[in-house]
This record gives sequence, C-alpha cells and structure tokens, in this order.
Amino acid sequence: RPAVRIAPSLLAADFARLGEEARAAAAAGADWLHLDIMDGHFVPNISFGPVVVKALRRHVAIPFDVHLMIAPADPYLAAFAEAGADLISVHPEAGPHLHRTLQTIRGLGKRAGVVLNPATPVQAVEHVLDLADLVLVMTVNPGFGGQSFLESQLPKIAALRRMIEATGRAIALEVDGGVTAETAPRCIAAGADVLVAGTAVFGASDYAAAIAALRGGAAP
Ligand code: DX5
Ligand code: ZN
Repeated sequence: RPAVRIAPSLLAADFARLGEEARAAAAAGADWLHLDIMDGHFVPNISFGPVVVKALRRHVAIPFDVHLMIAPADPYLAAFAEAGADLISVHPEAGPHLHRTLQTIRGLGKRAGVVLNPATPVQAVEHVLDLADLVLVMTVNPGFGGQSFLESQLPKIAALRRMIEATGRAIALEVDGGVTAETAPRCIAAGADVLVAGTAVFGASDYAAAIAALRGGAAP
C-alpha cells in the first residue's frame, strides 16, 4: 500500500485566517485538506458552507476532502462540486438513497466517500463499495474537534481493510476523530491509509513537525 496520507481538518484552524491556515497546512506537507461541513441539524454544530470552500480553493492546490455532516446532503452536492471539492463524503444516515447519492457525486466528476459513525456497522457500505472511492471511519461522534479517540472502532477499520482488499479496487480508508501521534500508529496498523487530524495539526506550534509525527516519522 502507498504511504499514509495526512488530511488536516480546518475545523481546528483560526477561522479568522482560513486562507493562511490552509496555505500553512499545505506548505507543512498536508496531502489533502479536510473540510468539515456541519449544519446544526445532522450534527449539533455549525461550521461553514460552499462559499467558504470556494474562497479557499484559490489558496491551495492540494485535494479538498469535503466531509458533509448535513442532512439532506443531495441538494448541496453540486454546490460543493462547483466550489472545488475533489472528494465528497456523505453519511448513510443523511439521506434515504445512499447509492443514488454516490452516483450523483460520481456524475459531478468527483470522488465519492461514505462515512461511518461509531454506531454504524460496516454493512452500511458493503453493497455500495463499487461506487466508493473512499470509506471514512469516525473515531469520535461527529460535530466537534478535540474529542477522545474511540478505541472501539479499530476492529471496524480492520474489517473495512479486508472488505476493500477483496474488491481489488483502490478505495482509500480514512480515519477521523482524535487522531494524534499516539493513536495514528494504531489506525495505520489496522489498515487506514488516510488520517484526518484537526487539533493535532492546527493546535501544534509547528505544523510540519505535527504532520511528520502523524506519519510516524521525524520532521523533514
Ligand atoms: C468531527 C470532524 C473531524 C474533526 C477532527 O465531526 O469530522 O474532522 O475536525 O478533529 P480532531 O482531530 O481534533 O479530533
Ligand atoms: Zn471530518
């Protein structure tokens, strides 16, 4: 498998300086930028929408990994695609027709992801893996940064790695929530190949050192 990719979550950045923060993360070695979209309905917090994603697009060239925590998601997929998303991920609970939602994302020319909440079983994605470019395992309940990593999700990551290998397709396996230099090695050992990190990157004084630590190495 390729080396692990790091996707800093802008949710933990300084919201008054989002463009600068995005550039700093990219310069520090971020592979993707993780953008958490929250509607105050699907999750108990509000973040930002497609207008902000579009404004950020001018600042960095790395892929935008858009994590939609909104319900319904379908009416907003085109707006996020047009705003510059490269990957768009949805929760199965955010709409009645996950298969159709993934088809829509693919139809917009974007890579499609499915996000599993801590209580959501791997079976929620089993029959749509042919349409998935990414599976995202939540290791906290979505809504807030800075929560503690849920160890209970490690067997789920391992199970998804086996399911992905069985497809023979290059589906990314991403972990989101409470990822730190301490918990990252356990995620990687379980089979994750993309790590989201908010607090562990934007809460650090040296973003490059923080990203290198998440990869399991020393600072470049
Ligand atoms: C939570 C978000 C996460 C969050 C992670 O709903 O999906 O992306 O920003 O933050 P940390 O890394 O601080 O747990
Ligand atoms: Zn997220």
